[in-house]
Amino acid sequence: MKNRFIQRYSKALIVFLFSVLSTLAYGQEISGDAANGKTLFNANCASCHKLDKKAIGPALGDVTERRSTEWLVKWIVNNAELRASGDEEAIAIFEEYNGSVMPAFPGLSEQDVMDILVYTVEGQKKAAPEEAGTGAVAGGEPVEPDNTVPLLILGAILAFLVYLLVTVKNTLKRVQGQPTTSLAEDANIITRTALKNPKIVTLLTILIAIVFFQQLYIALMSVGISEKYQPSQPIKFSHELHAGQNQIDCNYCHYGARKGKHSNIPSAGVCMNCHMQVQEGPKYGTEEIAKIYAAVGWDPETYQYIEGYEQKPIKWIRIHNLPDLAYFNHSQHVTAGQIACQTCHGPIQEMEEVYQYSSLTMGWCVNCHRETQVQVKSNDYYTEMHEKLKEKYGEDAQITVEMIGGLECGKCHY
Ligand code: HEC
Ligand code: HEC
Ligand code: HEC
Ligand code: HEC
Ligand code: HEC
Ligand code: HEC
Repeated sequence: MKNRFIQRYSKALIVFLFSVLSTLAYGQEISGDAANGKTLFNANCASCHKLDKKAIGPALGDVTERRSTEWLVKWIVNNAELRASGDEEAIAIFEEYNGSVMPAFPGLSEQDVMDILVYTVEGQKKAAPEEAGTGAVAGGEPVEPDNTVPLLILGAILAFLVYLLVTVKNTLKRVQGQPTTSLAEDANIITRTALKNPKIVTLLTILIAIVFFQQLYIALMSVGISEKYQPSQPIKFSHELHAGQNQIDCNYCHYGARKGKHSNIPSAGVCMNCHMQVQEGPKYGTEEIAKIYAAVGWDPETYQYIEGYEQKPIKWIRIHNLPDLAYFNHSQHVTAGQIACQTCHGPIQEMEEVYQYSSLTMGWCVNCHRETQVQVKSNDYYTEMHEKLKEKYGEDAQITVEMIGGLECGKCHY
């Protein structure tokens, strides 16, 4: 309890000291209307900035401590102009963010900017005590409480108690005129007596077995996970939400799979078909969707593409990847073979984050070619070839991929 109390008030104190210091350092007081600032911030800045943590742009909760008010006004109204004037701070922060472009806000008056700055300070102050009180950051992610210090104290108290007991016991023995024993000797006697008691031995064995199997289980599970490659993507795009809950057809985004060798990853333009309208998600609010806007240079407020914006493709991390020596063609399987995506990729529509479901080894390809029958009926993709197959093997023959040459090395290797 005391710990929390100190945490809470020391944070508030630090915030207060900082604001006094920053005022002293820059010799100017920021004054303005925090409520108006909040409205302006949410409308113009929240898509890229948060107060307490980095988003597309830096955290702004403590920006007035880092920068002079004069600089901030210039930056916020037109950062490109400030950079063009050769301002070193402006060029440095621009480069730190790899040249991400923050739009200009020529519509904001100096007082508007002051209001926003007052809000960044007030908003941050309000968030701080809450954080310490609930053990959760403003983003809603629970933080593991740090137990190290209390555990160390507990350990020290226990050690002290043991020491105290041994001392008391030895004092008593000395009073009775018996020989005293050291801590090590006591431990020895206790262990030997315990090991003679079958109940204690059984209990110990069970405990050790539990720990052992638990460790074994963890080890085995992690073997499975490392096979299933599942990298974190630059945008928290969820197949569970799009293909599952919202039932968007795989082919809407991966239209390449039916037509050619590769199944494409959709460009940010495809996302924009919906995300011009859908500006907020159920889990991450505007944060993740704002990254699409940052890639294509879209301003959700003015509802326009930012002029002269240099678009940056989203750097999705590739999950499935065969070595160059193997040849795999999607349309051959999806269109001609009529195999569902899920047969090879697993329950993608349930995956919040995609992982590699199949091993993609040669044995995996070959086994399926041995077992799977060619879909000769109602398949207009390879009509001609399939007609010939029917002639050769008969109308109702069970034709496996193997029989059409699916095990020939040259079919899969260049
Ligand atoms: C489209 C995204 C975007 C929007 C909208 C945006 N910013 Fe930025 N902002 C950035 C990025 C990115 C940077 C980092 C510098 C750079 O790359 O130009 C930045 C930097 C800043 C900085 C400098 C921070 C520092 O640590 O020095 C301030 C201050 C700032 N923005 C304030 C605002 C305010 C106020 C608004 C709303 C009126 C706003 N920004 C709207 C993306 C944005
Ligand atoms: C709204 C667009 C969209 C829809 C609909 C969609 N996907 Fe995706 N898919 C993506 C994006 C974006 C990525 C890249 C990011 C990722 O891996 O999550 C991706 C990645 C994948 C990957 C991994 C690619 C790699 O890197 O190896 C597979 C496999 C995949 N999708 C299959 C499917 C299947 C099957 C469906 C239908 C059940 C489907 N997708 C529906 C957009 C979509
Ligand atoms: C066919 C329409 C459609 C397309 C295309 C689409 N989305 Fe979405 N997206 C949605 C809908 C609907 C939601 C959920 C909105 C809700 O439930 O509030 C959503 C939500 C999201 C969210 C928010 C998730 C959350 O839980 O907060 C992100 C991030 C996202 N989409 C990224 C993408 C990306 C990246 C692409 C392009 C690869 C894309 N979307 C393409 C319709 C689409
Ligand atoms: C017969 C198994 C199989 C089926 C069916 C299949 N895929 Fe794939 N998919 C693969 C393999 C193998 C790769 C890796 C290809 C490579 O590295 O060249 C892959 C890769 C991908 C990729 C990454 C981009 C690429 O082409 O390398 C996406 C996206 C994808 N599949 C989506 C789909 C979708 C959507 C469907 C259904 C319309 C589908 N797949 C059906 C086996 C399959
Ligand atoms: C789920 C079963 C399945 C898996 C897994 C699978 N295939 Fe196939 N494959 C088929 C079917 C079915 C066809 C026949 C398509 C048709 O012509 O109707 C086929 C056809 C082919 C063909 C054309 C064969 C020919 O004689 O024309 C090639 C090449 C091929 N697959 C390569 C691969 C490779 C490489 C892999 C592994 C990365 C793979 N396949 C994994 C089912 C599978
Ligand atoms: C159905 C498709 C298919 C057929 C048929 C096939 N392979 Fe492969 N082969 C693959 C794939 C896919 C890989 C890559 C597997 C991996 O990365 O684990 C591969 C890998 C290999 C490798 C490299 C192994 C390594 O460790 O890098 C060799 C060598 C090889 N195949 C030889 C052959 C020979 C010889 C035949 C004919 C008897 C053959 N393959 C038939 C799909 C096939």
